[in-house]
Amino acid sequence: MTEVPLRAGQRWHAMMPQPDHDEMARQTFVWSLRQEIRKTVEPVIPAVYKKVAPKVNKPGRPATIPELRRAMQSEPQIQMWSSLRRSTWEAQWDAAGLAIERDLGRLIDTARRYRDSNQKLGSLELDPTVVTPRYNSEIEIHVQPGGYHVDVTEHDDVFAGALWDRVYTVGEPDRGEWGDLPGIATSSWIKEQFPDLKPKKILDVGCTIGQSTLPYCDAFPDAEIHAIDVGAPVLRYGHARAEALGKKVHFSQQDAEKTRFKDGSFDLIFSHLLFHETSRTGVENIFREGYRLLKPGGVMFLDDIPDRNGMEQTTSFFFDWMTHNAAEPFINGWIDTDRHAVAERVGFDRKKAKQGGPQNRFFAFRK
Ligand SMILES: C[S@@+](CC[C@H](N)C(=O)[O-])C[C@H]1O[C@@H](n2cnc3c(N)ncnc32)[C@H](O)[C@@H]1O
Repeated sequence: MTEVPLRAGQRWHAMMPQPDHDEMARQTFVWSLRQEIRKTVEPVIPAVYKKVAPKVNKPGRPATIPELRRAMQSEPQIQMWSSLRRSTWEAQWDAAGLAIERDLGRLIDTARRYRDSNQKLGSLELDPTVVTPRYNSEIEIHVQPGGYHVDVTEHDDVFAGALWDRVYTVGEPDRGEWGDLPGIATSSWIKEQFPDLKPKKILDVGCTIGQSTLPYCDAFPDAEIHAIDVGAPVLRYGHARAEALGKKVHFSQQDAEKTRFKDGSFDLIFSHLLFHETSRTGVENIFREGYRLLKPGGVMFLDDIPDRNGMEQTTSFFFDWMTHNAAEPFINGWIDTDRHAVAERVGFDRKKAKQGGPQNRFFAFRK
């Protein structure tokens, strides 16, 4: 099998969807167009903000989010950016999805071979009784067709996983060879912050296809690594992908709000970009479950969209736009969530919390 063309700095693996010439051309066009819009059209946000800010911000009373939204969105330049961003985002899923539909039989067969191999490194445990929480089942988060959990074929579907890999590893620049840069960055941050932590068992919560899980295999080579998600097709794909990349991970289908693991099972629990896609109750329940699953001295870590504290109004506008226009309805709620307060309510000591990373978006709580 020949390796298909990728983008500079990215590498192929056996579970990667293989677009034909025309499909690749279509995908490359959409990716390039999106980058171009980011580079040349998105700067209208600070430019328009400069114009509207003096009108909406009163002395001693900055504009509320709805006031800022109304002022910004009444400007034609913002309307143009908004429409271009949304429509090219949809086009990206469509371009990748069409090619995957054609290649799906091969991908399913490959995943089955990894699953059934008696030489596999990790494992895959699916549980059809797991119910996808409403915050994921009622909406196609970030306009991803079918979301993370919908099977598009009768047996052993991997479509959602392949789509995620194509869009977030290959489509997004600057995410590393296999979309693993965020996991490389967070695992090194954790090691730096907690030099005495020598985890034997680690859990990734909301792992999708395990892009951020795999770097933890390298960062903590002596640990047993588990990864959970509610979506079966992303887990099937993620397990096969990990095997293809020679990484040992135990994937299982579980709801992070109420898992099947025993109390005190893990030394380190981490999540990447999970919380901004969950409801307020979901956030609270996942924190509580994380606390239950940690051994004393264990660490719960999260990397997600930063909180409102010190956030610039242009950034607040951008995330508010995402909340209302990009099928990400929980972003504003998450930005306004006091992570230390939630952690304290479930039992963590806020004095032991650590925060850092880019935009101060990494949080770690020690039990
Ligand atoms: C943005 S993706 C996470 C990306 C992934 N962590 C990474 O770094 O590539 C959010 C994931 O969380 C999963 N998820 C949402 N709610 C969940 C829950 N209650 N339990 C387990 N997984 C959940 C979704 O199915 C989805 O795969």
